[in-house]
Amino acid sequence: MRHTITLVPGDGIGPEVTSAVVHILECAGFDVGWDSHVAGAAALERHGVALPEGLLASIRRTRVALKGPLTTPVGTGFTSVNVGLRKALDLFVNLRPVRSLPSVTTRYEHVDLVIVRENTEDLYAGLEHEVAPGIVESLKITTEAASSRIARFAFDYARAHRRRRVTAVHKANIMKMGDGLFLESVRKVAAAYPEIAADDRIVDAACMRLVLDPTQFDVLLLPNLYGDIVSDLCAGLVGGLGVVPGANLGADLAVFEAVHGSAPDIAGRNIANPTALLLSATLMLRHIGEAAIADRVTRALEEVLAAGRVRTRDLGGTATTTEFTEAICARLTAS
Ligand code: NAI
Repeated sequence: MRHTITLVPGDGIGPEVTSAVVHILECAGFDVGWDSHVAGAAALERHGVALPEGLLASIRRTRVALKGPLTTPVGTGFTSVNVGLRKALDLFVNLRPVRSLPSVTTRYEHVDLVIVRENTEDLYAGLEHEVAPGIVESLKITTEAASSRIARFAFDYARAHRRRRVTAVHKANIMKMGDGLFLESVRKVAAAYPEIAADDRIVDAACMRLVLDPTQFDVLLLPNLYGDIVSDLCAGLVGGLGVVPGANLGADLAVFEAVHGSAPDIAGRNIANPTALLLSATLMLRHIGEAAIADRVTRALEEVLAAGRVRTRDLGGTATTTEFTEAICARLTAS
């Protein structure tokens, strides 16, 4: 069956890793028509807006997008297109499975945890204003509706994927009302899933436990900001930002993207690791019912990593993005 999928090449290393992934999916025999769109600075230049209506319309039509990272100017400039996209399409879940990869040596083996991050509110509501010169107020929004909705997703996910525990991460000792509401909402939802253990950790202690022994966690459920930060921490546990995939999910729309950003420090040098976006693409393939192709791609990736000869620099190798991509394609076309 031929699929139509929206493609956003993105900024920085985005075009390099998206074209690598598109090529690998082609080698795997994935039958797809890509509807390619720009966003961010490129869209601002071409269309006068950073998040063009044409891109949103495309995703509403195809229901699925594969997206490269987009740069967000720091301090000034346009507001985050990533956040805008998630809000505009009500992609309320940010799902980030964090797993050890074969032969990628890190401090821990057998890390296998899933981050479920609330994607629409918290400090990312973008509500900031200057109260008086030198004083800025940033509003942290927490609603029972959004907290319960993300909690239901986390527990449904745990049930569907045979996960045993959901740990809510919060700072309700200090933000008794906001994070307190998040925690209380999670607890109410948890009561309907008696077969799944539910507990909670204060975010600072959770970080300490994660670096001491990440294998003690299963599903982590977090409000937006803690989810963002803890995701990168967890990426560091399994080899870095080059290897951790992600998905932004709504009721019926989905945008798949790596956890990492546009990596301006290595952009244009053909050395970025496309693994994170490739694993995001395997999540996408499963989402659209192409699990067999997802399995083949994952196997080819794991074989190349396990052979150890062709690796990008972030994993201690010397291979270029192109060489790594071709090594995976060679496995796919040989199998
Ligand atoms: P970053 O994730 O782009 O880079 C952090 C470090 O990880 C850099 O040293 C980079 O070289 C390395 N890295 C990231 N991805 C890699 C890959 N695939 N292969 C090898 N090394 C990789 O984070 P940074 O520098 O804080 O952000 C850069 C820009 O990206 C910012 O404008 C930020 O707003 C944006 N960003 C966009 C995201 C998205 O589109 N979803 C997510 C995170 C950041």
